[in-house]
Amino acid sequence: EIMSDIFDLKDLEEQIKKSLGLVEVIVVPGDSDEAPWVKKEMGRVTVQLMKRHLADEASKIVALTGGTTIAAVAEMMTPDSEMKETLFVPARGGLGEQVENQANTICATMATKAMGSYRLLHVPDQLSQDSYSSLMEEPKVKEILNLIRSANLVIHGIGEAKTMAERRGSSEEILQNLNEKQAVAEAFGYYFNKDGDIIHRVLTIGLQLEDVSNSKLVVAVAGGASKAQAISAYMKQGTSNVLITDEGAAKALLQLH
Ligand code: BG6
Repeated sequence: EIMSDIFDLKDLEEQIKKSLGLVEVIVVPGDSDEAPWVKKEMGRVTVQLMKRHLADEASKIVALTGGTTIAAVAEMMTPDSEMKETLFVPARGGLGEQVENQANTICATMATKAMGSYRLLHVPDQLSQDSYSSLMEEPKVKEILNLIRSANLVIHGIGEAKTMAERRGSSEEILQNLNEKQAVAEAFGYYFNKDGDIIHRVLTIGLQLEDVSNSKLVVAVAGGASKAQAISAYMKQGTSNVLITDEGAAKALLQLH
């Protein structure tokens, strides 16, 4: 019985890898919408993958996004020789999350657990075009931006569009716009429709989507059947090359394809 379950997951991984065109897919058992330990299990396998990848890298810089899923990755982090040399940075500035779900917080937590180091990016959540431009000129901001852009590993979450817009306390106008343009997915502060087209983005400093695709390895960690549509849509624009998910999302994903 256990052997056939493992076989089923391997089979799911292969099918998703093919249908989304990814380098690697890992599916953990269960559905994180229903059981909280499933998110921790995704976190545990993400840590394994990070260690495996960083072992071969000369410079070890990891950029992280916020969210409860990446917070679970941080929670499962353990120290070792690779991790001690790793620098953790937030992928982007404030995106309107509660403190425990902010990229900065997760970075500090993960670095502490890894016994590595970290740098933070302190920028406000809501940036006007003017303040964005002047912040970009700040030497300290430039310095950390360079580090972020040179990350060789990016670990990020994917959210369901409406859930994320509401969690960020977005304005009525934005909510309406997302609704009209049929946003289904969110990642890095960008919102996508079901074809993977960008329909809105939150203006903040840090990695922009085009920078993300220059990174060596971009790992999406997202699970729960409720995120299947979001994962499918986001993956259509092809920035990430690895997906770590759960059985609930994986099965629902295959039904969409
Ligand atoms: C946010 C990121 O912090 O977390 C988003 O900025 C991401 O890009 C989201 O979609 C995912 O959150 P969760 O809690 O579903 O892992």
